[in-house]
Amino acid sequence: MCYSVAIDGPAGSGKSTVAKMISKELDIIYLDTGAMYRAVTLKVLSENVDFNDISSIKGIVDSISIDFKGNSIYLDGKDVSEDIRSTIVTNNVSDIAKLDYVRTKMVALQQKIASGNNIIMDGRDIGTIVLPDAELKVFLTASIEERARRRFDELVNKGKDVDMEVLKDEIARRDKIDSERSNSPLVQADDAILLDTSSMNINDVINFILGKLKDRDLI
Ligand code: CDP
Repeated sequence: MCYSVAIDGPAGSGKSTVAKMISKELDIIYLDTGAMYRAVTLKVLSENVDFNDISSIKGIVDSISIDFKGNSIYLDGKDVSEDIRSTIVTNNVSDIAKLDYVRTKMVALQQKIASGNNIIMDGRDIGTIVLPDAELKVFLTASIEERARRRFDELVNKGKDVDMEVLKDEIARRDKIDSERSNSPLVQADDAILLDTSSMNINDVINFILGKLKDRDLI
């Protein structure tokens, strides 16, 4: 029998780092659903499409090809793993991800990738919409200060010039749009375990999740 693990939470809560490491440890598929919304946003921006021009956005979503190979994501055959992390994509992704048509298509693709596989997926609506029957659901959170600090360290390590206060405002703005949208908002599923990682390190979080999977006889 296959099992799936849903990791949701706001920006900078550590979801992708944790999910990636667990997928390696258990040798199961990892799907970064945020990367898919980022790829759509990159394409909309690069084609200079107005965000209110729904028919052009539909055209993009209907013709887009998104593939994962290893840790890389390919948009229409091109590796865009770096480009989707740019500030301009980060600051616009929530406005694209809230569109019904975009979500319907991405969720269908995510469910197709999950079907018949052991998988760990991270996002905002995995436990509520994408994998409502996931065997384990975890909602990761942390204080806005801690989340901004983590993102700051990540960007500085990549050699980027960032301002902590600006970063904090950008994260707060994104959380607000993600939480307040009408279509599958960022919300903890009723049966998800809430984990505040503000004072936990990555290994603590991973061990916690592995422990839950063992308790449930999934691994
Ligand atoms: O890694 P980070 O927390 O910065 O964000 P991400 O996981 O790359 O997701 C980027 C954006 O995509 C989020 O702020 C949401 O607007 C959107 N998203 C979503 O709506 N649903 C998901 N399942 C995953 C991401």
